[in-house]
Amino acid sequence: MRRPVNIAPPKGKLGILTPGMGAVSTTFMAGVELVRRGEAVPVGSLTQMGTIRLGKRTENKVPAIKEFVPLAKLSDLVFGGWDVFPDDAYVAASKAGVLEAKHLDSAQKFLKNIKPMKAAFDQSYVKNLQGTHIKKGKTKFDLAEQIRQDIREFKKKSKADRLVMVWCGSTEVFLKPEDVHRDLQTFEKGMKTNHPSIAPSMLYAYAAISEGVPFANGAPNLTVDIPALEDFAKTKNVPIGGKDFKTGQTLMKTVLAPGFKARMLGMNGWFSTNILGNRDGEVLDDPASFKTKEESKLGVLEYILQPKLYPQLYGKIHHKVRINYYPPRGDNKEGWDNIDIFGWLGYPMQIKVDFLCRDSILAAPIVLDLALFFDLAQRAGMRGIQEWLSFYFKSPMCARELYPEHDLFIQLMKLKNTLRWIMGEDLITHLGAEYYD
Ligand SMILES: NC(=O)c1ccc[n+]([C@@H]2O[C@H](COP(=O)([O-])OP(=O)(O)OC[C@H]3O[C@@H](n4cnc5c(N)ncnc54)[C@H](O)[C@@H]3O)[C@@H](O)[C@H]2O)c1
Repeated sequence: MRRPVNIAPPKGKLGILTPGMGAVSTTFMAGVELVRRGEAVPVGSLTQMGTIRLGKRTENKVPAIKEFVPLAKLSDLVFGGWDVFPDDAYVAASKAGVLEAKHLDSAQKFLKNIKPMKAAFDQSYVKNLQGTHIKKGKTKFDLAEQIRQDIREFKKKSKADRLVMVWCGSTEVFLKPEDVHRDLQTFEKGMKTNHPSIAPSMLYAYAAISEGVPFANGAPNLTVDIPALEDFAKTKNVPIGGKDFKTGQTLMKTVLAPGFKARMLGMNGWFSTNILGNRDGEVLDDPASFKTKEESKLGVLEYILQPKLYPQLYGKIHHKVRINYYPPRGDNKEGWDNIDIFGWLGYPMQIKVDFLCRDSILAAPIVLDLALFFDLAQRAGMRGIQEWLSFYFKSPMCARELYPEHDLFIQLMKLKNTLRWIMGEDLITHLGAEYYD
């Protein structure tokens, strides 16, 4: 990839489209509105709160990220989306039960104006959802064409200059890459013949790329992570990425595991279990959707700990992940981790983590950052997989010949160095020998 030389300025409005207007999406939209009215602080958002060091440590040059790179301003954001239920964003946010009454009341008028477009949906891909607000079409290709039409109409109506799409829809059943995902021609033929391995989320991704709209996938579904759509994105100069927002338990895993490995502490096992009671939890109660999530959560340790390189330390890890649907907790998930590690001479130790987290509160700033960075990537002429945004994903997409980078700190370094690189600044290696000449 060549270094971008010209970055188009973020002129006009940026439209953020979310297939899925549930807990995460509405918490994100309401949050942006409250922040721009000065009623809240965008905690958890790197684009809004983060800084970046430039040059030597002695130079004291640490601008805010949003002043260093030309990002769209919050005041220029407009929102739209699709859902299988007709509830506007206010009703959906009220049902999701994430935000308190004072925040809901304050954002009511704004949220009421965001009404979902009809979804491309098929219950065989999300067993525990019975949608009513659904597009009709003879083939999957027809449905994708309808989504393209929605995108064009939204752009016109909202007077948006540019768009990005972030999948905030439910987790679909587990699908593996198959022949039908091989190249664009086969994929398009598959849509026209209603191939069962083409899920609704793929139709949104296909429509977005066709319309030149960057696409980020916040769920663990295969979606855009197939050769046909990767190649299509490159041809159309569209940035893409995914999968699965890195929030609660996996965020903790990618913080803790690099620490154990840095100290060469061994590990026998990591048992993770959760209770959550939101709609996401209900969807994940179906084994086929859980399988998609489980695969996404399990990969993390394997890649961070590298058991093949360190067989004595990490060769025999028992890694288990459980998610239990438990309605009384709503969106306020509780995740327990029991970590069996060992030290000098093999003596065993245990670590317990009990994270009483708020799923959508952790996910909302990720949606914002992804939307702003994907828009930046497009204006900088970057296309295809945006691996530098792995920081935000549980199961990051990367070039086919690579393995994904999961360590949160390496991911952050990669993200910030990419920003320096885009802007023509020196990269920071952390060598620091020059201070001791
Ligand atoms: N909250 C988190 O911390 C977190 C972390 C990682 C990933 N995710 C993923 O993000 C997604 C959204 O999470 P959530 O908590 O908002 O779930 P949610 O159930 O509240 O919202 C998802 C919405 O998507 C809609 N939907 C399903 N299929 C659709 C389709 N084909 N087209 C349009 N809409 C569709 C559903 O009706 C629902 O309203 C889930 O896949 C979840 O696994 C969430």
